[in-house]
Amino acid sequence: ANPVRFYGKHQSGIATPAQDRLHFTAFDVITSDRDELIGLLKDWTEAAARMCDGDFAGPGGAVGGNYDSPPQDTGEAQGLPASGLTVTVGFGPSLFDKDGEDRFGIGDRRPELLEELPLFRRDDIDPKISGGDICVQACANDPQVAVHAVRNLARIGFGKVSIRWSQLGFGRTASTSSTQSTPRNLMGFKDGTANLKAEETKELKKHLWVGAKDGPEWMAGGSYLVTRKIRMQVETWDRTSLSEQETIFGRDKSEGAPLTGSKEFDEPDFKAKADDELVIGTVAHVRLAHPSQHGGARMLRRGYSFVDGSDELGHLDAGLFFIAYQRDPSKAFIPVQKALADNDVLNEYIKHVSSGIFACPAGVEGPEDYWGRALF
Ligand code: HEM
Repeated sequence: ANPVRFYGKHQSGIATPAQDRLHFTAFDVITSDRDELIGLLKDWTEAAARMCDGDFAGPGGAVGGNYDSPPQDTGEAQGLPASGLTVTVGFGPSLFDKDGEDRFGIGDRRPELLEELPLFRRDDIDPKISGGDICVQACANDPQVAVHAVRNLARIGFGKVSIRWSQLGFGRTASTSSTQSTPRNLMGFKDGTANLKAEETKELKKHLWVGAKDGPEWMAGGSYLVTRKIRMQVETWDRTSLSEQETIFGRDKSEGAPLTGSKEFDEPDFKAKADDELVIGTVAHVRLAHPSQHGGARMLRRGYSFVDGSDELGHLDAGLFFIAYQRDPSKAFIPVQKALADNDVLNEYIKHVSSGIFACPAGVEGPEDYWGRALF
């Protein structure tokens, strides 16, 4: 695949077409030196721009630098194309305020919307794989390229940041462009049908990008990212009847059409009845999550499936690494997840085990610019 443009008004990896693979990583900053953090963001930006272009992380490459120093690139992506790599960065609440401490003098610039997510009903969140000061979302069509990107940023950040947790994903569970076909999640259903798409520029402005007047100023052109690792009890799901599975989502499994229609992109009719009963039930996933239930709010979903081997009971440790971008999480993810947590029948088959929220700044404009420049 051709390189995806790294520079621009918005960060790539949000409204650009979802690739097939993910390596998502949350870092904690271990230096408390503001200048060191800024220096790292500059070094990271430079390395990411190079890697997204299909190049080595550093100009010396994997073997071309000083023979007596460690190479400037770890080497495993040598000979591979850019594979559509995007690297997207976000800042967590703890970067601004870690247990009451403003380590980098940016406490007063923390966006009001950048708050730890509330605990939802049935949440089983493990703090060890949640949160983080800075997140890096690397997506590519080749897993080796995505892992290479994260690994080199971690290498460059040695002594300044440490990896708090990280997650591999495969098989995008959303399409973010109408040029893409809708993929399926591990429950076998098409996922991403009603997602925000790159072509809906007006809707992106309204629901995805932080506006110039939204505040704080440095977030203009950025977006808020929510991550949730959602474990699926796939063995239980696989013993559930097809009719129950379709009732839970409110869509049919083959075509992905709403139960009130016949084609994937038919609009669901939430009033339609058969035998005096609603065809799409009151607790169907697509009804509970639908913008009509949430004041018109939409989000851009960009999640991936994961299988982290199996657990001690011999069950697949599998599920959905949910990723969603939005202009205002208090209007989008939070109310939608509250409705789902309280009512969704899907809850019998899933468990939320990790959680994160990050403020992703605007795009890097060119080689002189760097991630988060407007923040510092
Ligand atoms: C729609 C699956 C979790 C928000 C859908 C659809 C499926 C699905 C199959 C219908 C096709 C589509 O429009 O994409 C799942 C699974 C989940 C999950 C398997 C967990 C393992 C969530 C969560 C949220 C969410 C946590 C947000 C809090 C939405 C939204 C829609 C949707 C906004 C579109 C509704 C519409 O406009 O019709 N999901 N979902 N989902 N889901 Fe989920």
